[in-house]
Amino acid sequence: MRSFHVTVTALCCVVVAVGVLPLSLDAQLDPSFYRNTCPKVHSIVRGVVRTVSKKDPRMLASLVRLHFHDCFVQGCDASILLNNTATIVSEQQAFPNNNSIRGLDVVNDIKTAVENACPGVVSCADILALAAEISSVLAGGPDWKVPLGRRDSLTANRTLANINLPAPFSNLSALKSAFAVQGLDTTDLVALSGAHTFGRSHCDFFTDRLYNFSGTGKPDPTLDTTYSQQLKKICPNGGPNNLANFDPTTPDTIDNNYFSNLKVKKGLLQSDQELFSTTGADTISIVNKFSSDQKAFFDSFEASMIKMSKIDVLTGIKGEIRKHCNFVNKKAVELDIASVASEESSMKGMVSSF
Ligand code: HEM
Ligand SMILES: *[C@@H]1O[C@H](CO)[C@@H](O)[C@H](O)[C@H]1NC(C)=O
Ligand SMILES: *[C@@H]1O[C@H](CO)[C@@H](O)[C@H](O)[C@H]1NC(C)=O
Ligand SMILES: *[C@@H]1O[C@H](CO)[C@@H](O)[C@H](O)[C@H]1NC(C)=O
Ligand SMILES: *[C@@H]1O[C@H](CO)[C@@H](O)[C@H](O)[C@H]1NC(C)=O
Ligand SMILES: *[C@@H]1O[C@H](CO)[C@@H](O)[C@H](O)[C@H]1NC(C)=O
Repeated sequence: MRSFHVTVTALCCVVVAVGVLPLSLDAQLDPSFYRNTCPKVHSIVRGVVRTVSKKDPRMLASLVRLHFHDCFVQGCDASILLNNTATIVSEQQAFPNNNSIRGLDVVNDIKTAVENACPGVVSCADILALAAEISSVLAGGPDWKVPLGRRDSLTANRTLANINLPAPFSNLSALKSAFAVQGLDTTDLVALSGAHTFGRSHCDFFTDRLYNFSGTGKPDPTLDTTYSQQLKKICPNGGPNNLANFDPTTPDTIDNNYFSNLKVKKGLLQSDQELFSTTGADTISIVNKFSSDQKAFFDSFEASMIKMSKIDVLTGIKGEIRKHCNFVNKKAVELDIASVASEESSMKGMVSSF
């Protein structure tokens, strides 16, 4: 009798716990979040990213950047993926994103593949986090267990994207504060800037350094002159639509060249070179460490990517699992209106057929 009573009590509490926990506690992200609901999600995402990257190796860099630009604006909630609609002012046209972010179509392809396997289960925000880790691995960088369970936002904020995403013309103190706002420290700043070990930049983000730095009429003194000559060939008269590799030697690979480049004044953006060329900065020793020890860089990159991927996430019953990453799901009210409308039209059909 006694043991029976205990069992009933335990059962009752399990039921209560299951019913109440997601509502009362902020759920934590967990790498095994989809173990039962979408066990193959990682390999599905990997399949699409791998196929695309064979034709377009730069896409790996573009997907890492997309995750960063998502997380710095109201958290890792896929807000960057929302398109302009009657109620959404898309972040895609914010200055740091407009004509510059890539991979929206790839994310939609991933979403389609994931929906085919596990409909309505995997968030677009988690897809961005997974695609970033997979891109790191495919580009020769570290792998990590991606914490999962993010949900997708119902809103976007272009104004906030313009405020929160750091500019390539930022000095070190501006960079530090942009990261501090997100709960990221100086080591995170240096490690994550190491993502500029692959991918490209448009000329207009650095041409002032070649010709007329900060209105001085002279080139940036912290830019190597030989490197500057090479960049001038890529960017004659500014050439706003031309692209330069962040890393001239291994442009599509994640390695620690970024840091050795900074030490010889070959950082592409002002925001890159600031990490090593700012007099007395505490970032210099971190650059030195990462340039001499690739494993130290990879360990920090992995830790900082995980930290970044947890910024202001929506979990539990917050947000939603979008059906299409570019749009919020239809609200119940809209669905009711839609179904009333379709009922009305089918009624009309019935009436007219009489
Ligand atoms: C520290 C402040 C940062 C600034 C000012 C900055 C700025 C920029 C700019 C201006 C570009 C060139 C975009 C274009 O021309 O289309 C770029 C590209 C890129 N950024 Fe950053 N970024 C920063 C931090 C980061 C972080 C934290 C990550 C990821 C962890 C990242 C990943 C990338 C990647 C991979 C590319 C190349 C994208 C491609 O080729 O499509 N950046 N960034
Ligand atoms: C969303 O907007 C982007 C441009 O920012 C466009 O390329 C894409 O086709 C749009 N997606 C849909 C489903 O309309
Ligand atoms: C985004 O870029 C397009 C094409 O260059 C331009 O027409 C548009 O004005 C830009 N949008 C914003 C909000 O700056
Ligand atoms: C967007 O962010 C700005 C700056 O934090 C804030 O003032 C504004 O209320 C936000 N807009 C929306 C629509 O959430
Ligand atoms: C860094 O940039 C900020 C914002 O542009 C500016 O207010 C500040 O004076 C600059 N600091 C230094 C040390 O140049
Ligand atoms: C450099 O830029 C400043 C400010 O934009 C401008 O006044 C100056 O004429 C430029 N100098 C040269 C040599 O182009």
